[in-house]
Amino acid sequence: MSNQLLAGKRGIIFGALDPQSIAWKVAEHCVEQGAKITLTNAPVALRFGQLDELASQLGAEVIACDATSLEDLENLLDKSMDILGGKLDFILHSIGMSVNVRKKKEYTDLNHDWMQKTFDVSAISFHKLMQVAHKKEVMNEWGSILALTYIAAQRTFPDYSEMAESKALLESFARSFGYHWALKNKVRVNTISQSPTMTTAGKGVKGFTDFFDYADKMSPLGNASADDCARYCVSLFSDFTRMVTMQNLMHDGGFSSMGMNPAVLER
Ligand SMILES: NC(=O)c1ccc[n+]([C@@H]2O[C@H](COP(=O)([O-])OP(=O)(O)OC[C@H]3O[C@@H](n4cnc5c(N)ncnc54)[C@H](O)[C@@H]3O)[C@@H](O)[C@H]2O)c1
Repeated sequence: MSNQLLAGKRGIIFGALDPQSIAWKVAEHCVEQGAKITLTNAPVALRFGQLDELASQLGAEVIACDATSLEDLENLLDKSMDILGGKLDFILHSIGMSVNVRKKKEYTDLNHDWMQKTFDVSAISFHKLMQVAHKKEVMNEWGSILALTYIAAQRTFPDYSEMAESKALLESFARSFGYHWALKNKVRVNTISQSPTMTTAGKGVKGFTDFFDYADKMSPLGNASADDCARYCVSLFSDFTRMVTMQNLMHDGGFSSMGMNPAVLER
């Protein structure tokens, strides 16, 4: 059901790869709520993913952008404003990739060149995006910028490896740049800390299925789904959350506040 919460708003959604992607659901919900969007992903993901399907379903255009490239980001922002007919009201950064996790390196034996790449893709890209957007003045007043993160930034989840540090960096960029955006034109910047979700990035983490079940049992409301996350994103892009900024917002069915849940022991 649509309340047209985003009627008249324009935005960019990064990171929809396939129908499991959290960003895929966010794009669907944003358009259902009246927004006009452009979709973007890395060139390699456009070759292997299914983004064109989503684009034709939503009547949205796709613009290739490696989020680590300042040149690509500039091109994406310029083209999006041309296509959408004006400045932007919201941006979703939904990007994560760890080279060491992909290559199954143990945390005590990481390759630090790969770690730099992981940080660049998963966290520094968020700063790059905000810096290019800030210089180009692409955001309307009271706009909203969001990135997706995970609780491993605060607590230890051994198999999450160097992604934990990536997320800590990402969340810190949201706080630090959130200050500058608020002063510039009242734009808010937040991160959503999402439950484990069955996606390509999620399933790349060792033992993910068991961990997904554990988190589901530990959380009194169960794991938040990608659709739930998309609805939360819509609320944070809407005018009902204008004064929320520089926050890491837990979206996890209560997981982060639990100490022990008897349901886990019963299992
Ligand atoms: N799945 C989970 O359990 C979970 C939990 C909490 C947070 N998150 C976060 O949610 C976000 C989305 O992940 P997802 O779970 O939907 O998985 P996903 O694999 O569907 O999405 C990750 C996206 O990052 C994109 N990407 C990688 N390198 C890129 C680059 N250089 N430039 C542009 N895009 C690039 C990929 O192409 C892909 O579309 C990530 O930040 C992830 O860490 C996921």
